[in-house]
Amino acid sequence: MGASNDKSLGHSTTSTGAPAVSDRNSLSIGPDGPIVLHDVHFLEQMAHFNREKVPERQPHAKGAGAFGEFKTTEDVSRYTKAALFQKGAATEMLARFSTVAGEMGSPDTWRDVRGFSLKFYTTEGNYDLVGNNTPVFFVRDPMKFPHFIRSQKRLPDSGLRDAEMQWDFWTNNPESAHQVSYLMGERGLPKTWRHMNGYGSHTYMWVNAKGEKFWVKYHFHTNQGMQFFTNAEAAAMAGEDADFHRRDLFDAIKRGEFPSWTLSVQVMPYAEAKQYRFNPFDLTKTWSHKDYPLIKVGTMSLNRNPENFFAQIEQAAFSPGNTVPGIGLSPDKMLLGRAFAYNDAQRARIGTNFNQLPVNRPKVPVQTYMFDGNMAYEHSGNAPTYVPNSFGRPWADTTGAADDGWEADGDMVRSAYSLHAEDDDFGQPHDLVRNVFNDKQREALIQQVVASLNGVGSPVRERVFDYWKKIDAEVGGQIETQAGSGK
Ligand code: HEM
Repeated sequence: MGASNDKSLGHSTTSTGAPAVSDRNSLSIGPDGPIVLHDVHFLEQMAHFNREKVPERQPHAKGAGAFGEFKTTEDVSRYTKAALFQKGAATEMLARFSTVAGEMGSPDTWRDVRGFSLKFYTTEGNYDLVGNNTPVFFVRDPMKFPHFIRSQKRLPDSGLRDAEMQWDFWTNNPESAHQVSYLMGERGLPKTWRHMNGYGSHTYMWVNAKGEKFWVKYHFHTNQGMQFFTNAEAAAMAGEDADFHRRDLFDAIKRGEFPSWTLSVQVMPYAEAKQYRFNPFDLTKTWSHKDYPLIKVGTMSLNRNPENFFAQIEQAAFSPGNTVPGIGLSPDKMLLGRAFAYNDAQRARIGTNFNQLPVNRPKVPVQTYMFDGNMAYEHSGNAPTYVPNSFGRPWADTTGAADDGWEADGDMVRSAYSLHAEDDDFGQPHDLVRNVFNDKQREALIQQVVASLNGVGSPVRERVFDYWKKIDAEVGGQIETQAGSGK
């Protein structure tokens, strides 16, 4: 209904296919009289319009995306049996890029982390990788996630964004230091989506055909080169064209300039995780490239714009829980929390049967024991709805150790992760700010943090100075000197 663009019809129809009488004039008693209730076409227009939007994503509401292809160019079969990562495989895919905190209409160029969501329509079902343009995250326990997001969004009374609330959350959760250092640096203002890297961020599991397990981290490096906006450029662009990133991607693909990224992975042998100097499942940490060098896998290129934004991007549903054989999750508590959160959000946001929509539907047959629900379209006729059944409908019944499982025991506790030898909150951010950033980047970081403290009062302000001094004594000192008491 409403879906056809068939010009040969010569007129529009109602949603039930009958010719519509008029899309321009409602039915009234005389030209100047009241309109009548049995103008069903009019009432249907009004009622459907009232339901035209679905709730925006919470978070990552503002974004856009495109279709493309992932080609595996290298042999990584010793690490994974996943069909999409076998040398020579070409897999159709969808990517969506986004800001985190902004709402649907917010400017693309406000400082933020950027989402980097990928859906691979593989021969073994859909595989989703839902990452960001930074390799780490703000917190390491999913219990904190809703609090984190609310602190980055809007105040309850004025409905305004608020730097004090953001810094209050970050400084009360010092594990955020690494990601905040990325955010306050260049990565917080990518010039376009084409010019940013993407990361799986979490540690995932790969399993090869022999059943051997490995821990992996995904890195998608942009082949366009990383480029960034300055604060001034980003602010000007936010006013000039709030949809700049959305437009840039769409126009580039329309021009035939297909952006591409090279996927490499870091691979850690399964047994090394327990003893690695950092907890390899802590999402606030990276793995040293010296310890685990990048191994090239293949190339993703985006070559097809959506034909319809709502149907194919707004209703797209990505979930880190959507894995395929040869790829598993890991003991990262954040990842395990996410494995639940996304499908549930999508049931609420789009509807129970969101996976039946063309953009989400796998390219392989679906044979599930989940039935009916709102807007059920695909069905299995009169096939048995239960297992075991005596009428030939197959079911799954694998027992024993999970292919992609890991060992766990101990008492049920509420606790932070146990610490590995070099685990702390400030060591890696210090390394980033002191040894990865050059002088110019460090100076820009200081200026950015100072500017962000406008309106941030005591005691949060003092905690911000302390937080940065713990990251880097000199950087923190300069922030304190330049920002002053704020009075
Ligand atoms: C416990 C932690 C987290 C929870 C509970 C969570 C939850 C959510 C939810 C509910 C959505 C909206 C989904 C939808 O409506 O379709 C979302 C979107 C998103 N999240 Fe998370 N998130 C978490 C952490 C992360 C992390 C660590 C990353 C990146 C490494 C991330 C990246 C994204 C992206 C890219 C999207 C947008 C997906 C899209 O393009 O449709 N999230 N998140």
